[in-house]
Amino acid sequence: MSLMTTLQWTLRKGFWNFVAKRKYQRNIPMVVDRPHRTPARLQLIPLVQVYPSIPISDIRIADHSLQDEGRAKQGMLRRLLTRLYPKFFPEELVLRVLAWLYTTTCGPMQPGRPEIPADPYVALDQAYTKGHRRTVIQTSAALNLDPKRTLKPPTLPPELEQFPDLGMLALRGPYAGYLKKVKGTRTQYEWDLRELSSYESYPDLYEPWAHVLFQFHEQDVTLKPCRIECQLGTIVPGDPEWPLASRIAVCAATTDTALIRHWTWTHLVGGELFAFATRTKLTDSHPLYRLLWPHLVGTQASNRLATLGQLVPGGDFEAVYSLTYKGLCHLISKSTATFRLGSFDPREDRHRRDIRGILPTPTLDNCKRLFRIMQAHAYRYFRLYYTDEAIRYDEQIQDWVGELDRLLPNGLGLPPVKLGCVALANVVAKLMYMECVHHEQVGTHCWNYQLWAHTHPVRVYRDNRRVPEDVYQRLVNTNYVLNIVRTPLLSDLTSLALEGERMEEAKRVFRVFTDRLRDLEHAMEREPWAPWKIYPAQLEVSINA
Ligand SMILES: [Fe+2]
Repeated sequence: MSLMTTLQWTLRKGFWNFVAKRKYQRNIPMVVDRPHRTPARLQLIPLVQVYPSIPISDIRIADHSLQDEGRAKQGMLRRLLTRLYPKFFPEELVLRVLAWLYTTTCGPMQPGRPEIPADPYVALDQAYTKGHRRTVIQTSAALNLDPKRTLKPPTLPPELEQFPDLGMLALRGPYAGYLKKVKGTRTQYEWDLRELSSYESYPDLYEPWAHVLFQFHEQDVTLKPCRIECQLGTIVPGDPEWPLASRIAVCAATTDTALIRHWTWTHLVGGELFAFATRTKLTDSHPLYRLLWPHLVGTQASNRLATLGQLVPGGDFEAVYSLTYKGLCHLISKSTATFRLGSFDPREDRHRRDIRGILPTPTLDNCKRLFRIMQAHAYRYFRLYYTDEAIRYDEQIQDWVGELDRLLPNGLGLPPVKLGCVALANVVAKLMYMECVHHEQVGTHCWNYQLWAHTHPVRVYRDNRRVPEDVYQRLVNTNYVLNIVRTPLLSDLTSLALEGERMEEAKRVFRVFTDRLRDLEHAMEREPWAPWKIYPAQLEVSINA
């Protein structure tokens, strides 16, 4: 390797690490205590109209970012530009320049870089530099952050130490939502990730798809994989290809999680449409708007900023995962239709996948406890303002429900009964859960999983080499930026209480919500910490940056 290419890499790595650190440092959590009125002009348009370089027209996003979602200081210049051009959003301008740089010779990738070191800790230390870590500490200090919320260096989960333990990964952590019972059997389960074979991937990589058959062993209460179908063929334990097939299965799961469950379902479909319907169908003095505001503000802006970082040509998704840009856009386009709001209710999700009974389900149990707190909170809040009858005569609520049912792929999934407090609380709890819990599970939670490339590859090379250092560096930086400091769910939300005769009671409802979350936090803290656990103190109030 020539001195020149090494020098180029040093400069390139230094610059893009600087960009990642600045993104981490400059993201000041939003203040969510005061709802803003949304201008009437907001409308949805196809993604390709906003970003002509991204050929996706099935997804519709807001036509502009809202000024109340801005993070840049409201200086004189910004105020003036905003007055002249209401859709001006300076943060987006910077990201557009960086997105353009991705496609030039100054981009973060440098073909021909060597593989990362075989020792995963050495590989991590080279990419997650002292500078990254120092930025975390400085940002935490500047924001006076609770130490529980300060980003720790990644922890290697036991299930990824030597070899990916698919049985454990299927029950706890970011991929716990894939396991389903094989129809007609009592103890057989499966991961079915074969749909990913429909999208074009890079020729030097194994295609990121797999079907894994699991057998539950009742005596020792373990779930073990017993067959993997992937591009290698049908592989069983003991075959020489078994370790490689297991890695391909993990690659398939993480590809699906990052591109479909996190990005498409949670950001571009669920988050975007929920925020749009709420902003356009409810006024800022409506009780439901007050309840939902912290979970939606920032969505339009952060989706646009993240699109510029990840989905544009040369973005993180194309650089890190196995799909070509054409395959990536095709996948995201097609995955829109598979969004189901019901999957954000862990009880419904468990039922749909038929994993009730003897199987231990630690992550699902964890999620169920969080969902119940959200559902009870929404129900208490509605009962404060409405009877079942009053909900049916509230025009704004009816419009909001109708709009969400129309916009969301597969609708709200409501039974054909008249909407009352219980049904409305369920819808709201699913939306809150999607924003706060699901987003954590499939997004920031990958920090402790994806960076261990030896057992958890985001791409698997056909010639058996490890990922090159430019791909790994990009993976580290994208996960780092996903972990920027956001507004915690455990914030004081009482100032959102609607002024009027029920204000004190509404404040009490918000306080009870945070008290219940704190109770759960304390209960969980009495048990040993584990990377797969979702703690209330870690949760953010929304998906937004
Ligand atoms: Fe996210």
